[in-house]
Amino acid sequence: MIKSWPYPRVAAHRGGGTLAPENTLAGLRTGANLGHTMVEFDARLSVDNVAFLLHDDTVNRTSNGHGAAAYMRYAELATLDAGSWRDARFAGEPMPTLAQVAACCRELGLAANVEIKPCTGRDVETGRIVGAEAARLWENEAQAGTPPLLSSFSCAALEAARDSAPELPRGLLFERVPADWREQTAALECVSLHASHRHLDEALVERIKAAGLFILAYTVNDLERARQLVSWGVDTVCTDRIDLIGPHALDA
Ligand code: G3P
Ligand code: MG
Repeated sequence: MIKSWPYPRVAAHRGGGTLAPENTLAGLRTGANLGHTMVEFDARLSVDNVAFLLHDDTVNRTSNGHGAAAYMRYAELATLDAGSWRDARFAGEPMPTLAQVAACCRELGLAANVEIKPCTGRDVETGRIVGAEAARLWENEAQAGTPPLLSSFSCAALEAARDSAPELPRGLLFERVPADWREQTAALECVSLHASHRHLDEALVERIKAAGLFILAYTVNDLERARQLVSWGVDTVCTDRIDLIGPHALDA
């Protein structure tokens, strides 16, 4: 388990933020082209248990397909165009598998925050499979000191990931940090707490840091706000505006 935070101050949200179709390899490349060195993305399972990237339960918003991903095989998902909805120049961009994402991160030198985003009712299976795959796919990076950081809003998913990949660092995700954040993060042996920056204040950041946890704040799209969060002690800011909040914008 990590004792120091090996991740940069800025992480590109859903791959390339709003500059590219979310959760695609084109997104990873967009961030890397701007010099970014960390990326967050959302991983879930197809019906045939292939780990792949998609934020929503359905493919409707971010592809030319229709329906719930939980009932689709990956072979079918792979035929969908997950790029055109953002811009015609991304036409044909697929929803990548976690294995393709790991290879792309390696090629581009990107550290990864793998958000486990289970389809409804599949929390345990998703946590178990995504955790085990992340451990296998990022084995070299983990050995080199930059393991993939697993996170989830789902305690059940994160618990299953802990059991399948105990050596990988975990962060529990909240929108608003609940009163029992200490108990919840301790139960899952988390290294970090991930929260919406809208509900963070200086005193809360101080308490979380004093408990020995690292903090990732999302989704911060204003440079001054990002600087304020870092001045309070937030370790990494996850942003859609990878153009506005550059890779070194928050360096000391
Ligand atoms: O992991 C931070 C952030 O991605 C959580 O919210 O809905 O964008 O996955 P969401
Ligand atoms: Mg996410």
